[in-house]
Amino acid sequence: MTLTTLFEGFAQIGRITNMTLSRILRSHLAILMVAALSLPVIAIAHDGHKKDMSDAEMAQMEIHGDADMRESPSVVPSSLGQAEPTALTEAKPMTAEQALEAKRAKNRITSTGDLLGRLHPIAAHFPIALLLMAAIAEILLFIRPALGLETTVRFLVSGGAIGAAAAAFFGWFAAGWRLEDRSETLALHRWNGTAITAVAIVAAWFAFRPGSRKALRFAIGILAVALVIQGYHGGEMVFGPNHLGLE
Ligand code: HEM
Repeated sequence: MTLTTLFEGFAQIGRITNMTLSRILRSHLAILMVAALSLPVIAIAHDGHKKDMSDAEMAQMEIHGDADMRESPSVVPSSLGQAEPTALTEAKPMTAEQALEAKRAKNRITSTGDLLGRLHPIAAHFPIALLLMAAIAEILLFIRPALGLETTVRFLVSGGAIGAAAAAFFGWFAAGWRLEDRSETLALHRWNGTAITAVAIVAAWFAFRPGSRKALRFAIGILAVALVIQGYHGGEMVFGPNHLGLE
């Protein structure tokens, strides 16, 4: 797979599906906006993962409030002005505006590693979307070879592999650089994500190799299943255990 062939693939796709691409860009813009809006929630989960907390300790933190914020005053709506402290904190009340400012200050970036870790949720959407679309395109190609989707698959798998590498790179900063985790969910997510990146890079190489598509199809199938599991565990870490309400 040479760089020229890769760029030719990109250019060809761009020519064929100009309108589709602008639609894809619009939908990714929406994803980026949703990710940016969910940053405060992520910042709390992020602390627990970096500190190597277990799943149970993180659930406790979510229910009783962030450990670092526990000593801080409780929140009351600004319309009510100063109110009675809640039983939870037994501290001075805080107006909604003060709470907002306190949260902003708490969310401030502390180091380059911290910033890189916070980029993980934004990057994570790309391998999920691109590699699952590659699986759909490959199924369509299997059913109807005349569709000629080989270039599309190449584009999606190579983009997905680049996205997976970026997501994994940022993920290691989000999770902390260690080989064992006290959180089972994080351990599964860390190693599944790292393996996804390795398999996606191999799949991209398969996609550019002429000849049989068997190995590529097998790799894409594995990636599709692993990515659904990966996304589910990512959601568990950010939104809490049983976040889809299936249990
Ligand atoms: C292909 C690779 C990966 C994908 C697709 C992926 C996907 C996700 C998703 C979807 C979330 C939830 C984000 C949200 O809803 O806002 C998430 C969160 C998270 N992921 Fe990954 N991930 C990948 C690799 C990794 C790796 C390799 C690590 C660790 C070494 C990691 C660590 C984390 C952590 C710690 C969180 C929780 C958010 C946080 O604490 O910042 N991820 N991931």
